[in-house]
Amino acid sequence: MTSDKVTPSDLRASKARGERIASLTAYDYPMTRLLDECGVPLLLVGDSLGMVVLGYPDTTHVTMAEMEHHVRAAARARPRALLAADLPYHSYETPEAAVAHALRLVAAGAEAVKAEGGREILAQVRAITGAGIPFIGHLGMLPQHVLEEGGYRIKGRKEAEREALLADARALADAGAFAIVLELVAPAVAREISEGIAIPTIGIGSGPDCDGQILVTHDLLGTFPWFTPKFVKRELNASEQMRTAVTRWKQAVEVPAGKTL
Ligand code: KIV
Repeated sequence: MTSDKVTPSDLRASKARGERIASLTAYDYPMTRLLDECGVPLLLVGDSLGMVVLGYPDTTHVTMAEMEHHVRAAARARPRALLAADLPYHSYETPEAAVAHALRLVAAGAEAVKAEGGREILAQVRAITGAGIPFIGHLGMLPQHVLEEGGYRIKGRKEAEREALLADARALADAGAFAIVLELVAPAVAREISEGIAIPTIGIGSGPDCDGQILVTHDLLGTFPWFTPKFVKRELNASEQMRTAVTRWKQAVEVPAGKTL
């Protein structure tokens, strides 16, 4: 990739060249700027911010106003990376609602939007891409459906699920999606989908054979230590470093140098 702004076509071209795509979540100005300085080409203002920033139990509580607030903050970093944002829960029930909310995210600074689902949201996907807004699909475990599903579990182990995932992926690609996130998809099925469509798959907990990988940055860096998904290999234990630094500083304030209690 060049030093120019990353576009959906660049990401498709990466797949065509067999180059893997690294992607991370970013919810605010400093993190977007830092990850962009590291050259990560695809940044997502994910509704996972509901859990790791806002303290909600799951993503179903995240509002449109909260997404817009975080997209504006991330966009102020003016990243070279493509900045995508999640359409929050219940914001894309109809094609009209999907376009209206996608346009609000674009007005806030998003350059692409992502929504969860396959053939059941195809009319919405066509409406979004028809409005000229780049779209990323999301298949497999759908966090916005966690309450109906009763938890986070791997998809694609049953033959019917495998067939449905493959059909959904093809339908999203045909409807104009430029990439698809595969979350908690059985690795063999994630590989089959990746080999079967021209647009890149970006995996999370779906094995090594996707065209790219995405993680929640807080999981990668250890800034949300109270829960880390099993598939994450943490690269940093930032919460421990923060605790050590704050404790050291607090002790220095409470017991100034040269004084003993
Ligand atoms: O909300 C999110 O951060 C996501 C990614 C983890 C794929 O959807």
